[in-house]
Amino acid sequence: MQFADRLNKVETSAIRELFKLLGKPGIISFAGGFPDPALFDVQGIQESANAVLANSPGAVLQYGATEGYQPLREGISGFMANKGAIAKPEGLIVTTGSQQALDLIGKTMISTGDKVIVEAPTFLATIQCFRLYGAHIIGAPIDADGVDVDRLEKLIEEHKPKLVYLIPTFGNPSGATLSLARRKRILEIAARTKTLVVEDDPYGELYFDQPPPLSLLALSEQVSGSRDWLAHCGSFSKILSPGLRVGWLIAPPELLAKATMCKQFSDAHTSNLTQAIAAHYLTLNRLDVALAVVRKTYAQRASVMADSLHRELGSSIEFNQPQGGMFFWARLTGANNKGRNAPEFAKRAIDRGVAFVPGAPFFAHDPDLSTLRLSFATVGLEKIVEGIERLGRAL
Ligand SMILES: Cc1ncc(COP(=O)(O)O)c(C=O)c1O
Repeated sequence: MQFADRLNKVETSAIRELFKLLGKPGIISFAGGFPDPALFDVQGIQESANAVLANSPGAVLQYGATEGYQPLREGISGFMANKGAIAKPEGLIVTTGSQQALDLIGKTMISTGDKVIVEAPTFLATIQCFRLYGAHIIGAPIDADGVDVDRLEKLIEEHKPKLVYLIPTFGNPSGATLSLARRKRILEIAARTKTLVVEDDPYGELYFDQPPPLSLLALSEQVSGSRDWLAHCGSFSKILSPGLRVGWLIAPPELLAKATMCKQFSDAHTSNLTQAIAAHYLTLNRLDVALAVVRKTYAQRASVMADSLHRELGSSIEFNQPQGGMFFWARLTGANNKGRNAPEFAKRAIDRGVAFVPGAPFFAHDPDLSTLRLSFATVGLEKIVEGIERLGRAL
């Protein structure tokens, strides 16, 4: 069959290939990017499902508006207000996961050959999605405080990109959090250079001790003109359930209207049933309680993973301790005559019964082969200790 030319620009993710090896019995996997299903508030979601089917079956089982189920748009507006961001219900649309919000931004904004700046490393699916629309992707370096703003500013001035895509809070895969000062500078740069900045924020609620700095969206109130150049993607996937497939896009009116039009041609609307469940769930006041458990559990797991990595791999590995989210981003240093090649290490690790994701696919170009991503989200404390011991033996 003669497939569309656009498919020449993307390939099946290397990560998916690795996942095929994970079926081995007894393997401890730090490779996934899923939240822990044991922490889903099944009771609350069930209560909401029952309520919406009992109270408004006609509405929730019917076709709905492309923009989203109105009570949920109002619910998300309230949820964002609690996080310090003003987003009126009519200023946002509900999307089928935030993945669709990213796709709609790609579809709406990117023409073949357009330049897009992302963090190096960044979320793999975004690289793939933007490439499908023909983007020429340029990576901006990051450190523990998120993207290097001086370098980003220079890249923006040099390349005049169509947009800049950032995961400022507990990034995937970087685990990094952009500092407050850098957030403000990015907003200033966006307003001054009239560059669209896309803030992807699925992890911001998963902080361990302290809430992270305010989102770019919330801070945009303080930086004149920046809101006009800011789109924000949110999601209930990591805080409620990814199976609901409920996310959202907040964007300037013109962009939101175009994205809504593209969504019409794509899936008409996100499932009314899951939107209504999410909307009802928000009224139960259970989210804070459920999130407190998630935060505590992930914080413990991250702490045990950090201790185990120090103990078992010592100076052979370096990493920044994440303050939230689901990931450690680490680099093999080559110390102690140990290897620096993460893909080779990944193969040896699987032989020893433990899996992680090598970092290379998360770079749009010039991959750093010494990097890797470890997720602690779905692994219990004892298994984390055992898994990292296995890693130590595999290195
Ligand atoms: C940074 C980032 N953005 C977006 C998504 C998509 O999430 P969803 O479509 O489930 O909202 C993910 C999922 O892992 C992610 O890590």
